[in-house]
Amino acid sequence: MENDLLLKALNKEQVSRPPVWLMRQAGRYLPEYQRVRSKVSFLELCGNPELAVEVSLQPYQRFGMDAVIVFSDILLPAQKMGLELDFTDVGPRFSNPVRTEDDITKLVIPEANEENYPTLKALTMLKKEIGHKVPILGFAGAPWTMFCYMTEGGSSQSFYKSKTLLYENPQAAHTLLSKITNSLFLYLTMQANSGANVLQIFDTWAGILSYDDYCTFAMPYLKRLISDLLPLKKPLILYSNGSHHLLGKFSMLKLGALSVDWRVNPQSIRDNYGKDIGLQGNLDPAILLTNQATVRERTKEMIMGIDNWQKGYVCNLGHGILPTTPIDNVTAMIETVHELAEEPLIV
Ligand code: CP3
Repeated sequence: MENDLLLKALNKEQVSRPPVWLMRQAGRYLPEYQRVRSKVSFLELCGNPELAVEVSLQPYQRFGMDAVIVFSDILLPAQKMGLELDFTDVGPRFSNPVRTEDDITKLVIPEANEENYPTLKALTMLKKEIGHKVPILGFAGAPWTMFCYMTEGGSSQSFYKSKTLLYENPQAAHTLLSKITNSLFLYLTMQANSGANVLQIFDTWAGILSYDDYCTFAMPYLKRLISDLLPLKKPLILYSNGSHHLLGKFSMLKLGALSVDWRVNPQSIRDNYGKDIGLQGNLDPAILLTNQATVRERTKEMIMGIDNWQKGYVCNLGHGILPTTPIDNVTAMIETVHELAEEPLIV
C-alpha cells in the first residue's frame, strides 16, 4: 500500500501524522457529486457501480484523503431483507416497517452477492481503480441502528415505535436483531472479500437506550458481529453517537478504533479505559461551516488534545459532513493534518 497511514494507525503503529478522512466525504457539499445526483436518484446511484465508483473517488481526487469509502448506504441490507425503501425530502422511509412477529418471520437473510448488493461490484471496481494507493473502507449499520430504522420506518429523534417493540416483545426483538446480525455478517464479509481493507460499523442510535437495555439487546449482537468478522483480519471501526455511558463497554471490543461524536473528549477515553485504545474523530461538523482560520485552529487543537496522537488516532469528524459545508474549509482541515508531518516531533 503506497499510503498506509490508516492501516498503520488502526494497527497502533507509529505515524508522522494522523490519517484523515471524513464521514460522508462523498456527498452533497461537493458540486461534482451534485452533478451526478442531478441525473439519478440516490437509490439509483447506490445501485449503479460505475457511478458509485465515480462519486467514491471524488473527495479523494479533490482533497487527497487517506482513505476512500465506498458510496452506498447503511439501509440497503434492510431493503434486501424485504423492506420497501424510499428516500424522501425528510430522509429515508420504509413503507412496510417491521411491527409484528409475522413481519419478522417474513424477512429474509439475503445472500451477499453482486446481484443483491451492487456495492460489492462497486468495491471490486474501486479496488481495480485505486490499486494500492490508499485503503478502501467498507461499512454497514450496527444491528441496533438497523433495528431502529427497520421498526420505526424512517428517521426519528426518539424511535418510540422501536422502543415499544423492544420493551413489549423482547423475544421478538431478539429474533429480529439476530436476523439482522446474520445479514450484516454476510454483507460485511463479502465487502472485505471484494476489496474493502477496513470495515466501519455505524451505531448512530446507540445512545438512545439506557446502559442496561443496550447491554441486554444491542451489545450481544454487536459483539457477535465483531467476533465473527475477526477471522477476516480487517481492522474494524465502530462509530457511536451520544454514548458516553457505553464507552467503557465499547473500549473492551476488539476494534482498530472507536469513532466518537464531538461531545466526547477523546483523550478521556484513553485516561479512563486504556491508553492504547484506537480513536477516530471527532471535530464537530458544524466547525466546518465557519472559516478556514477557525477550522485550522480547531483541527490542530483537537489533535494536540490527544497525548499520543502518533499512535492509534484517525482524524475525522464527530458525525457526517453537512451538506452546506464550504469546500475551502474541508481543504483547510485536510491541509492542517498534512502539515503536521512537516513539523518536528515533540517527544
Ligand atoms: O461516507 C461516505 O461518503 C459514504 C456514504 C454514506 C452514506 N450514508 C451516503 C448517503 C455512508 C457511510 C452513510 C451512512 C449512513 N446512512 C448512516 C450512518 C452514519 C450517520 O450519518 O449517522 C445513516 C444513519 C444512514 C441513513 C441515511 N441515509 C439517512 C438518515 C439519510 C438522510 C439524511 C441525509 O443526510 O440526507 C441518508 C441519505 C444519504 N446517505 C445521503 C448520502 C450521500 C444523502 C442523499 C442524497 O444525495 O440526496
